[in-house]
Amino acid sequence: MIQIENVTKVFKMGENEVRALDGVSLKIENGEMVAIMGPSGSGKSTLMSIVGCLDVPSTGSYLLDSLPVETMNDSQLADIRNHKIGFVFQQFNLLSRTSALENVLLPLSYTRLNGRQSRQKADHALEMVGLGERKNHHPSELSGGQQQRVAIARALVNDPSILIADEPTGALDSKTGAEIIDLFQTLHRDFGQTVIMVTHDSFVARHTDRIIRLADGRIVSDTINPNPLKAGTPRPEAEA
Ligand SMILES: Nc1ncnc2c1ncn2[C@@H]1O[C@H](COP(=O)(O)OP(=O)(O)O)[C@@H](O)[C@H]1O
Ligand SMILES: [Mg+2]
Repeated sequence: MIQIENVTKVFKMGENEVRALDGVSLKIENGEMVAIMGPSGSGKSTLMSIVGCLDVPSTGSYLLDSLPVETMNDSQLADIRNHKIGFVFQQFNLLSRTSALENVLLPLSYTRLNGRQSRQKADHALEMVGLGERKNHHPSELSGGQQQRVAIARALVNDPSILIADEPTGALDSKTGAEIIDLFQTLHRDFGQTVIMVTHDSFVARHTDRIIRLADGRIVSDTINPNPLKAGTPRPEAEA
């Protein structure tokens, strides 16, 4: 479970201070699927970095599965980033000179698995995202949607309990984006993963169980979505 209490994040830029998060309190239970919305600059990515243990709050507390993140040392944090949390970004962030398979193998190089075990896990992750056939292709030989699937396989390969996706459909056309959302829904439903997804797209957000909105570094609404859209729901004409 994720428990954030009165978190602020202040960036100092010379004389100026930017208050990216301004007193955010938030609880996300294991197995929830949550959308984070809000205008550009409202603090969404900063919040995701903190939730994902890539960055630390300026003030406030963060308990991850009841453990205070601020007391963890570098090796404990690295362990959490490698095993508990998977990250997916808008721009895929794949290594361009290596195959899909090698991209997915990368996070396993920090584990104690041998070559054959790693290979099996990476193959399995690529199959889960529907890319088993394309694993030897380089990113440039794959479509945007396929590249994002490789990035999702890479995020999944260590079986993280939390999947954080920062505008995962932002660089994709709406049909391909819908397929990526369907994939997140499947992972959430079949494997009980906690999915936290930043999106600008309210149609995408309506596929989740809960929608949290940020503005100026604060949570301005946090609502349960009683009827999440199902995979394959066509986008309403008016929103296309
Ligand atoms: N590393 C940083 N250094 C300085 N300012 C930052 C940094 N990261 C984010 N900010 C500022 O914090 C605010 C929130 O940014 P961000 O979390 O990226 O918003 P969002 O993801 O909602 O667009 C913005 O004003 C942004 O310019
Ligand atoms: Mg952002």
